[in-house]
Amino acid sequence: MLNKIKRITRKNTPRWVVLSLDLLLSAFSFGLAFFITEALSFEKTNAASYLFPLSLLLIFRLIAFIATKSYTGIIRYTSTQDAVRIFFAVAISTIAILLAEVTIYAYLDTHFIKPAIIIIDAFILIFFLTSFRISFKLLYNQYAPFNNGDNKKELIIYGAGEAGIIVKRSFEQNSSYGRKVIAFIDDNPKLQGKSAEGVNIYPPEVDFNTLTADRNNLIVILAINNISTFRKKRIIETCLASNIEIKTIPPVSSWIDGKFSVQSIKPVRIEDLLEREPIELSTKNIRKDLKDQVILITGAAGSIGSEIVRQCIFFKPKIIILLDQAETPLYEMQNELNGENNIKIIVGDVCNESRMEQVFAHYQPSYVFHAAAYKHVPLMEEHPYEAINTNVFGTQNLANLSAKYGVKKFVFVSTDKAVNPTNIMGASKRIAEIFIQSLNAKLRLESDSHTMFVTTRFGNVLGSNGSVIPLFKKQIEAGGPVTVTHPEITRFFMTIPEACQLVLEAGVMGKGGEIYIFDMGESVKIVDLARKMIRLSGFEEGKDIKIKFTGLRPGEKLKEELLNDKENTIGTHNPKIMVAKVPDYNYLETNELISDLYKQKDILKNRMLVKTMKHIVPEYISNNSVYEELDKKFIDS
Ligand SMILES: NC(=O)c1ccc[n+]([C@@H]2O[C@H](COP(=O)([O-])OP(=O)(O)OC[C@H]3O[C@@H](n4cnc5c(N)ncnc54)[C@H](O)[C@@H]3O)[C@@H](O)[C@H]2O)c1
Repeated sequence: MLNKIKRITRKNTPRWVVLSLDLLLSAFSFGLAFFITEALSFEKTNAASYLFPLSLLLIFRLIAFIATKSYTGIIRYTSTQDAVRIFFAVAISTIAILLAEVTIYAYLDTHFIKPAIIIIDAFILIFFLTSFRISFKLLYNQYAPFNNGDNKKELIIYGAGEAGIIVKRSFEQNSSYGRKVIAFIDDNPKLQGKSAEGVNIYPPEVDFNTLTADRNNLIVILAINNISTFRKKRIIETCLASNIEIKTIPPVSSWIDGKFSVQSIKPVRIEDLLEREPIELSTKNIRKDLKDQVILITGAAGSIGSEIVRQCIFFKPKIIILLDQAETPLYEMQNELNGENNIKIIVGDVCNESRMEQVFAHYQPSYVFHAAAYKHVPLMEEHPYEAINTNVFGTQNLANLSAKYGVKKFVFVSTDKAVNPTNIMGASKRIAEIFIQSLNAKLRLESDSHTMFVTTRFGNVLGSNGSVIPLFKKQIEAGGPVTVTHPEITRFFMTIPEACQLVLEAGVMGKGGEIYIFDMGESVKIVDLARKMIRLSGFEEGKDIKIKFTGLRPGEKLKEELLNDKENTIGTHNPKIMVAKVPDYNYLETNELISDLYKQKDILKNRMLVKTMKHIVPEYISNNSVYEELDKKFIDS
């Protein structure tokens, strides 16, 4: 029975029923107008004599209703548009009746219907038709959501501006979602304390617990388009702390045909919580440097390289060469950039000297952004040869070619893992940093090359290939557990676009020899990140999804650093970019040490390779790794 009622209430009232009701109300309104004028008039009128005018009036009304389609709107979604249609229908038919009355009076010298009745009737009818629809809509909105026993969710909309109102209406127009808006929250003091479409607007300081007390299944929808990152984070954190589900609407610019759809409401992403205020980039300088240049980007199919490509396009270089050894991801990039005509795709290995020489000789790049690397710590711990080959010799190869072919600037993408490295990956990147710097110093002394070598160092970027966030997302989708290596492990995070903006800016501002480090904000406890991601996905930690501690992986650190003990920083014009003051390394010594490494590489004796790495980077102390033993011997000897 209940289901039957539900079905009936969900169905739209047939149009012929609405039309019949409108005609019935027209007759009733006419009767009322007649009796009002009768009561005010001292003349006695025969009511029966009005039956003919009534039927004529109903014909006029019927024609006007059909012509203006005033009965076709779905009653529970009645809007101002429907009210306007009703007004026109009544106005048109009233004018037509008045004209008929004037004509008849002119020929027969008698009123077939008193003009006063026609006019009073028009006002009463407009009132009847609109209030009938509004009452139906109010009753429906009041009770319909509760007919959906399976979906008793209530909503608080954060933002009582245009977007918030549109969201409210969209839910009301889709009763199948079974959501009822119980409050708006808005920062604007002019709106606070007022109501919008019958719903109260509260200030943000409103006590969430009071507003949400005794309410189950409450969802907060963030419906503000221009909101600062800081404000957004505060709102999300408040909801998470109160255990309230929070979702967000997409930016207005992405609404299809400018229309909002309830389906486009999405859960808040963890990235929204980690995001920082956007960077003010000095695009003028970058454009000046990169415009009409030939730019080579290595690792162009990877997370960092591909974003550098996207950002470079904006600065209108002459050619962007996308170089990577990963064929399929490179193919995907090619498809993504299909419309761009200044793109060259090259499948190639940065370690292959002759192949790279071919590329440099043919394209003569003036800028090189070197982001090709092997970056996974546990994997590289097992494959020192590969880490050394790609990260050290690959970089050395490109750097030497850059000097040889007169590249203006070589920007090396390094990592915070190169600081006080505890693993092979970090140590290999540090060796590459040292080589780059010493080569830069040597070339300055000899002044036989104009190439400027710049290094950029930063922490984890959100959502990059193989990073923690995509992994946690997959684990949550699979129902858990979410694996965290250690309860105390922390990491710095920035978004890929943010990191690449800084790479471009640092690259352009560098004069050679600098190691730029980026302001990474506060470090984040990974277990907190996991907890928030579980909550944001609408689950409860421990009950729906468990967190499992798996132990530190080989080479993994609890905390990353951006500077080692012997380094400190000096600022630049961009407050988010600093230059690390690092000790100088002699090129000849460095080159010799790297040559030793090179000689050993094909013997494939991991211990020997790692031992030499430790010799080049004395601060490299293995952690949670089979190579810890080498440190003891190193210290003992
Ligand atoms: N992702 C991060 O969180 C992060 C943070 C700081 C620094 N970095 C550094 O940025 C660099 C790129 O990282 P990513 O996240 O883009 O990694 P990624 O794995 O997404 O991309 C690296 C790319 O380099 C390519 N590559 C590897 N070896 C190559 C070779 N021999 N020749 C040609 N191409 C080769 C790979 O195919 C891949 O497309 C790394 O050095 C990394 O340490 C990354």
